[in-house]
Amino acid sequence: MNRRKFLSWGTAGMVALCSGVVVSLGAVIRFLVPDVFYEPPQSFKIGNPADFPYGPPTFLADEKIYVFRERDKGFSVASAVCTHLGCTVKFFTSDNRFHCPCHGSVFNENGSVEHGPAPRALNWFEVTETRDGQLRVDKNKTVPPNYRLMV
Ligand code: FES
Repeated sequence: MNRRKFLSWGTAGMVALCSGVVVSLGAVIRFLVPDVFYEPPQSFKIGNPADFPYGPPTFLADEKIYVFRERDKGFSVASAVCTHLGCTVKFFTSDNRFHCPCHGSVFNENGSVEHGPAPRALNWFEVTETRDGQLRVDKNKTVPPNYRLMV
């Protein structure tokens, strides 16, 4: 083997070695960085009481909640997430019931299961009034369906 051939094999070997080190280092760094899911906040403002009409509930798609406002009773907030497999339920004023489009579960206006396969009632969340007069929903705090906020 002459000197030129020796140097070209040596260079190729060094390139291969450096490539291996870089790939391994990348894998180690990726391993050290955790997979983190950034969930939206579970407690959030939804607006002023006047933003919500009496009558049929207001559906907030991003938060997946229904906001009910009843005269002489106040505000209540129901989850729009079906307790079967998590589809978004729809409230129909024609029968005052929540219907799940995925597998046909039906919940009455209190969120109780009337027709499966949903295993349990819809959740109701605490709603409070903030100092600046807005409504705040806390999905970490479930309340009974008869919970109301009078504003
Ligand atoms: S997800 Fe609602 S019934 Fe299956």
